Amino acid sequence: MPRFDVKLNIGQRNFVRVLCVLLLVLGKNVSIIHVMATRNALGFFVVVVLLATPVITTTGRDLSPTYYHSKCPEALPIVRDGIAKAIKNETRVGASLLRLHFHDCFVNGCDASILLDDTPNFVGEKTAAPNNNSVRGFEVIDHIKARLEKACPGVVSCADIVALAARDSVVYLGGPSWKVSLGRRDSTTASRSLANTSIPPPTSNLSALITSFAAQGLSVRNMVALSGSHTIGLARCTSFRGRIYNDSNIDASFAHKLQMKCPKSGNDSVLQRLDIQTPTFFDNFYYKNLLQKKGLLHSDQELFNGSSVDSLVKKYAGDTAAFFHDFARAMIKMSEIKLLTGSNGQIRKNCRKMN
Ligand code: HEM
Repeated sequence: MPRFDVKLNIGQRNFVRVLCVLLLVLGKNVSIIHVMATRNALGFFVVVVLLATPVITTTGRDLSPTYYHSKCPEALPIVRDGIAKAIKNETRVGASLLRLHFHDCFVNGCDASILLDDTPNFVGEKTAAPNNNSVRGFEVIDHIKARLEKACPGVVSCADIVALAARDSVVYLGGPSWKVSLGRRDSTTASRSLANTSIPPPTSNLSALITSFAAQGLSVRNMVALSGSHTIGLARCTSFRGRIYNDSNIDASFAHKLQMKCPKSGNDSVLQRLDIQTPTFFDNFYYKNLLQKKGLLHSDQELFNGSSVDSLVKKYAGDTAAFFHDFARAMIKMSEIKLLTGSNGQIRKNCRKMN
């Protein structure tokens, strides 16, 4: 990422402005991070830090937040509106859409492979163990896609819709916003076996979580921040049974209350809040719960169990801004895992099947 610290006179400053506008028009990811001007005897002393790097994907192609500006100006407003309506209709679906993006990206990249339906000749990811009867939100994506196909046929990919839906859901529920670089294309394949092995189960210990995220190019810090997604949404009894009966690092009365609803056998699909305090608000209560040994999943409490990541959990529990900042950064990174761009993949007409 080039960084230029330069002294400029007024003419040169204007030139830099024109250059930035040009790069923006070309769809480059330009940000003037800092422009500082002070007057001294020699005139203006200006420090310009200019970043003019396109977002490079693993395929080496460009993505851009303005990708649909000319191709489909209504794209982002249609997605935002679709998400607002869906969450008004059912609050939980915001959480489900965030998780959908995660489960898409961890299996061969963010390419909407998770949306493909099984057919007699094709086995996809929807019925893989981590997804089956658990991942939700498909109808919301279908509905948004149908509106987009009317507005701009064949232009907006299902993978971009999923990435935008995750962002817009988090924003709607009170979390941070971030710029989603766009231009992803949709897969023509899916992998149930990779879904079974790439998505970490709730029985994971800390080192398994770290390894699983590292395999996707995500750091420990990214992993801890992304886990804060469990500040919204619900989990089934089957996902936390082992924790409430076997774990010792769990608040006794919290475990007892959960045992009343989730017996040692049966009631597998009974739902509980991942964040017992504010399950429909995107805040930092997930981390506060961990400090009190009230993480719902075994994997959640692994983040605060006497290891070196305890300090990060404490930080996020006490500093919402730090959590939001790191979460947004990590979401951008996750949403750019192994993308299909250029002439790779396709723009599906119906997100559930290949063209
Ligand atoms: C760190 C490893 C992770 C593990 C082991 C894990 C595991 C789980 C499990 C078991 C559930 C409940 C599923 C069910 O019972 O049906 C769940 C729900 C959820 N997960 Fe995660 N997850 C992890 C990371 C993430 C990440 C990175 C995100 C998003 C970026 C995320 C977002 C969510 C959300 C929002 C829900 C609630 C979904 C709903 O209510 O429909 N999780 N997770």
